[in-house]
Amino acid sequence: MRVITHFGLWLVGLEQARTQTSAAERACLAKHAAGRQRLVEIGVWHGVTTRVLRSVMDPSATLYAVDPFPPGQLKFSVQYLIAHREVGAVRNGRVVWVRTTGEEAAHRHRAQGLAPVDFIFIDGDHSYEGLQADWTGWSPLVAPGGVVALHDSRDTKESPRPGAGSVRYTSEVIVKAPAFELIDERESLTVLCRR
Ligand SMILES: C[S@@+](CC[C@H](N)C(=O)[O-])C[C@H]1O[C@@H](n2cnc3c(N)ncnc32)[C@H](O)[C@@H]1O
Repeated sequence: MRVITHFGLWLVGLEQARTQTSAAERACLAKHAAGRQRLVEIGVWHGVTTRVLRSVMDPSATLYAVDPFPPGQLKFSVQYLIAHREVGAVRNGRVVWVRTTGEEAAHRHRAQGLAPVDFIFIDGDHSYEGLQADWTGWSPLVAPGGVVALHDSRDTKESPRPGAGSVRYTSEVIVKAPAFELIDERESLTVLCRR
């Protein structure tokens, strides 16, 4: 269905916000994000997973929702409007919208001297170079005991992603990083904890 058609139907309540995550993956994210204090999501789109994270994080937590939300055919980002309303429907903690790439958001986080984060969900640019930029920028900003969850990072029978750059970068670099321990896998999700 075309973006504009979906947007119209969503506005009148006939369509739901969309996500590429499965129910099992969202349950896995919820489990690891529960009670966390400083969370980041890279790649928001319609805000479906952002909403999950907001609903389970600590009531005093801050969630940084990072996405460039490029304008589309209508000269504005339909996804930004949908995400704002979807995520705003949950009343818990604070959400900071960071309208830029994951890489640039990491530069800003560091430049502003913000505290390390204790949960990050990376679901933005799934190319090899895109995930490399997010991982290089954000992995040093994860506190000990903090969790990193990566979507589209495994090529499995249930969620085939043959040749995806994010799958390759995860297996070649991320799961071998000595500072991190692999703690969970669910369909296309890989979850690691900083030692
Ligand atoms: C797969 S969607 C995210 C879906 C969302 N996490 C969910 O399942 O509900 C990918 C999003 O990443 C965004 N994106 C693309 N490149 C990005 C980058 N370099 N940094 C941050 N976000 C990016 C796109 O604009 C898009 O909204």
